[in-house]
Amino acid sequence: MKATFLLGSLIALATASAEVFFEETFDGNWADRWVPSKVKNDLGVFDVSAGKFFADSEASKGLQTTQDARFYALSAPLAKPFSNKDKDLVIQFSVKHEQNIDCGGGYLKVLPPGVDLEKFDGETKYNVMFGPDICGPDRKVHVILNYNGVNHLIKKPIIPPSDQMTHLYTLILKPNLTYSVLIDNKEEATGELLEDWDLLPPKTIKDPEAKKPEDWVDDATIPDPEDKKPEGYDDIPALIPDPEAKKPEDWDDEDDGEWESPMIDNPEYEGPWEPKTIPNPNYKGPWIHPEIPNPEYKEDKDLYVYETGNVAFDLWQVKSGTIFDNILITDDVAYAKEFAEKTFEKYQEAEKQAKEKYDEEEKKKQEEEEAKLAAEAEAEAEAEEADKDELELEDDKPVEASKSADDIQVETVVPVSQEPVKEEENIKDEL
Ligand SMILES: *[C@@H]1O[C@H](CO)[C@@H](O)[C@H](O)[C@H]1NC(C)=O
Repeated sequence: MKATFLLGSLIALATASAEVFFEETFDGNWADRWVPSKVKNDLGVFDVSAGKFFADSEASKGLQTTQDARFYALSAPLAKPFSNKDKDLVIQFSVKHEQNIDCGGGYLKVLPPGVDLEKFDGETKYNVMFGPDICGPDRKVHVILNYNGVNHLIKKPIIPPSDQMTHLYTLILKPNLTYSVLIDNKEEATGELLEDWDLLPPKTIKDPEAKKPEDWVDDATIPDPEDKKPEGYDDIPALIPDPEAKKPEDWDDEDDGEWESPMIDNPEYEGPWEPKTIPNPNYKGPWIHPEIPNPEYKEDKDLYVYETGNVAFDLWQVKSGTIFDNILITDDVAYAKEFAEKTFEKYQEAEKQAKEKYDEEEKKKQEEEEAKLAAEAEAEAEAEEADKDELELEDDKPVEASKSADDIQVETVVPVSQEPVKEEENIKDEL
């Protein structure tokens, strides 16, 4: 009983301190909550739509890019800015590239407070940039952390799915300087912030004062001083006369000079003599440059801490149609998981079925279109055939036939023999 009570109050405590700072499902007056950037007048237009296929006509509605080859810039403030010091920071949202994206961003930026959102653009300072980025075969999930004004890319490759379905992206930064990236509510990458990003300079550096001693013995082996060259070793010639060679029958010593056998490699010859090698008794091993603490390094247990005030989309898309949805900023990992189940996992199967149905209908439409085109082509061919028959009937008349043969001759002879030069001149003139 007591244990249960204790556990119960612990959970109550945990939930009481957990907070949701931003939750956007693009229902109701979503446009009142978002601020379009005014830095450019040709920015792409967002709309809210469930898309071409969806699990639920209401719940599946999200923010969709609607114009091809455009930059997009849209942001929204959190109800109140917060710091994630001593707390988890969870950034979660879904992305549906239903247009079958060729090249474009699908990421979210989390900004500090105090940003003039009407002036938001790609240059605006952000804390974290997270989400998929696809351009042809180049696919990655960005996790960019800003530290002291510098953006650091994650060094670990995380590959996003490239299909047309909705996928959920979750980033969790933890106070013990670890992180997790979840795709579709399953852990895809995890590790330490200091290992997977170069946030801090290295802890130690090579001592600039240290130098390899002049008398450092580098050679692991030496020639054996005991080894002696065998007697007569140098008397073995490298080449010998070919024992197979014979003086040609018609060789004339008077005219040709004295016959000499051609030389061949001596199989007994082993090259210049070298003594055996033995381990060097003075060998000290490779010299290792001693390291000293890096004066540039400063430990920072708070490097995961951000003041968060806004979320924003800053995207470039070639083929538009991406739908973003269910954006969540919280310090509550359990809530994010529950939200993922409720807003994403619940609809996965239905979306799959909707996609299959959509694909089938598209295929049917295409087949009907093709059948229509084929029927039209056939009708045209028949009409042509009928015209031809008529012509052939005319050709049967003898006078008409000779006339048409003359026409053909004139047409072929003139352009081939004389016209080409002239034509070329014409082209030059036109140019
Ligand atoms: C960091 O904290 C998480 C809980 O939030 C825990 O699961 C993990 O083991 C911790 N990692 C390290 C290296 O302390």
